[in-house]
Amino acid sequence: MKKNIVFAMLVSAGVLLLQYQVPIVQAEETGPVHSITLPTIPAELKEGPGKDKVMTLCAICHSPDYIPMQPPLPAKTWDHEVHKMIKTFGAPISDEDAKIISSYLAAQYGADKK
Ligand code: HEC
Repeated sequence: MKKNIVFAMLVSAGVLLLQYQVPIVQAEETGPVHSITLPTIPAELKEGPGKDKVMTLCAICHSPDYIPMQPPLPAKTWDHEVHKMIKTFGAPISDEDAKIISSYLAAQYGADKK
């Protein structure tokens, strides 16, 4: 008799467990992984000598769109910006490339009258 009661309890426990498992199984069917489509952000810089360096070296950490997003800046400020990327954020840019990039930025996105 005792055995029957234990058996009945086990069966109802099993039924309960099955009921609770249903939502978990459904979650697996729809899949726990979701995908989202990010917007394509156009990153087109003005043509000019040094553009290739900027497109490669200044796009390692963030979109080169950060450049046209700035207001026209004096050459000194652009040069400071390039060196901030190198010194503060560790951009792997040689002195030679930094000069090329600074003059590109001043020429294409500069505030100085020529
Ligand atoms: C080592 C990573 C790294 C590289 C390479 C890099 N940047 Fe940045 N840049 C950053 C970080 C970090 C910020 C500030 C955080 C942010 O706004 O995302 C930033 C921000 C900027 C900004 C926004 C204004 C500001 O000062 O916060 C400009 C403009 C910019 N970078 C230009 C450049 C240019 C030009 C180059 C190429 C010479 C360059 N970056 C290369 C890391 C980098």
